[in-house]
Amino acid sequence: MSEFRVTAISKLHAEFTVPGDKSMSHRAAILGGLSNGVCVIRNFLPSEDCCNTLNAMQALGASCEILDELAGYGPLNLRIHGQSMRLSAPAAALDCGNSGTGMRLLAGMLAGQAFASELYGDASLSSRPMNRITVPLGQMGAHIECRGDKPGCAPLVIQPAKLRPITYEMPVASAQVKSAILLAGLFADGTTTVIQPAATRDHTERMLAAFHVTTRQLGNAISIDGGQIPAACDFTVPGDISSAAFWLVAAAALPGARLLLTDVGLNPTRTAILKVLSRMGARMLDVVHHAQGEPIGNIEIHGAPLKGTTILASEVPNLIDEIPVIAVAAALADGRTVIRNARELRVKETDRISTVVNNLRAMGAVVEEFDDGMEIHGGHPLHGTQIDSFGDHRIAMAFAIAGLFATGETIIRNTACVNTSYPGFARHLDAILQQRSNSDFTLRP
Ligand code: S3P
Repeated sequence: MSEFRVTAISKLHAEFTVPGDKSMSHRAAILGGLSNGVCVIRNFLPSEDCCNTLNAMQALGASCEILDELAGYGPLNLRIHGQSMRLSAPAAALDCGNSGTGMRLLAGMLAGQAFASELYGDASLSSRPMNRITVPLGQMGAHIECRGDKPGCAPLVIQPAKLRPITYEMPVASAQVKSAILLAGLFADGTTTVIQPAATRDHTERMLAAFHVTTRQLGNAISIDGGQIPAACDFTVPGDISSAAFWLVAAAALPGARLLLTDVGLNPTRTAILKVLSRMGARMLDVVHHAQGEPIGNIEIHGAPLKGTTILASEVPNLIDEIPVIAVAAALADGRTVIRNARELRVKETDRISTVVNNLRAMGAVVEEFDDGMEIHGGHPLHGTQIDSFGDHRIAMAFAIAGLFATGETIIRNTACVNTSYPGFARHLDAILQQRSNSDFTLRP
């Protein structure tokens, strides 16, 4: 079983490019495959999650050619042949691996097809709630059976159906649920509207626009008219700010550190992490250099002594994936950090409230656990120990960052899971651990 061995660092002067955005890579594979022609996708994230979605689109008839690969992982630049919304029945069940995004978006797309399909995933994905999509899709007329051992869980067996449009008020703020319904809405006769309780990441809406599919937004309600065919286009995926977050925290918490992250996605529904780290005391400059479609830019961050903060309820959906590493920053900061209204963390790849709290405590942090979050009393020194990722990529990476600030050696066990979102993380971590000279260094994916 693979592991990371991490010791404390005393300097960090670097320029990084993190791999492509996971959310956008899933969507680019799906919309490219539904489009009316050939699309070139650049800087696709060659992670297990996104490769599974790409494989699913190929199994549904959208063939794909790899133009460039990230050695040992998968496609970076690729050409996908869109099927003009006419997918073909897959020969076998579709594997979504560890990915909630892959399964939920594909289920939305498959709900209104004239053929049957089945989606399955690993043990973690098979225990995550799928009824949050099967209920609204069922209201649209879809026939989806949750065949998991746990009620409401995968495998999902989807029977042929003709969909009708609905207006659906989502009980939880989830971009995956919103996107599943919008994709199903593309195949429904009429206008489908989804109302979110709070703003969630809007990559689906932006990417639909890039493919010339119209959506309308009124407050937190988003509508789509069925029957539109995505127009083929080329799409370059920016770096994933959720992957950048690990290095942002490492630099923020190390006084004297300087880090430049280039070509990162700076979509405002994803950048709350920058506001939080600024509030905690990090000095930061983010500059958008490409503002069409998805904003892309550079982030320069300088480390400083950090102080605790309160995460606002409205910020939670905007930084849900960054909370594990924000909790690490909080343990390194002076004072109290409050993270509440984040019950959704309990249904991610692991129960991230309990995995973060237990791992932080194992390293010497003082943390209180709540049903919907945690309160971290920062400033207690962290010590190295053995940490389990529990198979959760973001837990593995967040605690690798904690190890950079702990006395002794931190061993993170069960780290192969990082490939679900950040192929090459181990190489980037290694470069930081090896930085001995005073010179800056540059890292590409
Ligand atoms: C994602 C949405 C988020 C996030 C996930 C990716 C997406 O989940 O946690 O990693 O690509 O739509 P929610 O459905 O909770 O918003």
